[in-house]
Amino acid sequence: MEPITNLIKSLADRHGRDRSSLLPILQGVVEQEKYLSEYSMIEIARELDLPATEVYGTATFYSFLEHKKMGRYIIRICKTITCSMKGESQILLAIQDMLKIKVGETTPDGAFSLLQTNCLGFCHKAPAMLINNEVYTELTPEKVREILSSYLNNQNGGGQNVS
Ligand code: FES
Repeated sequence: MEPITNLIKSLADRHGRDRSSLLPILQGVVEQEKYLSEYSMIEIARELDLPATEVYGTATFYSFLEHKKMGRYIIRICKTITCSMKGESQILLAIQDMLKIKVGETTPDGAFSLLQTNCLGFCHKAPAMLINNEVYTELTPEKVREILSSYLNNQNGGGQNVS
């Protein structure tokens, strides 16, 4: 049996096999695998006895569910109006410049993926971004460079544990 099938079975054991279990199971797969493959969606549909179209619809509705392999650290920068008025484009440039990737790309070492997202609910502290589940607010290009440096140092065995 494929490891992903085992993972889905154990998530279904934990969350149950009815419709309301679909989202936590999708999240569990993404947390573990960092993305959601078509194979995983079909396996989830089979495990929960749901139409595959329903699994796919839920997965695409929640844009936090990725469909391709992501880096260990997923940066999501808010592109909604308040952040965009408060300098989101400079933050994005600073990140792109430092990591040498564009939005939608992953660094060649598989460490960082860069995405844009809608409002994170921190408009009063814009501009804001997420790195995995960690929220960073009131960003400036300098501040974002410091944050990324701490992740890069952490990758090399030093710095704070930010995973
Ligand atoms: S507009 Fe960016 S957090 Fe709300």
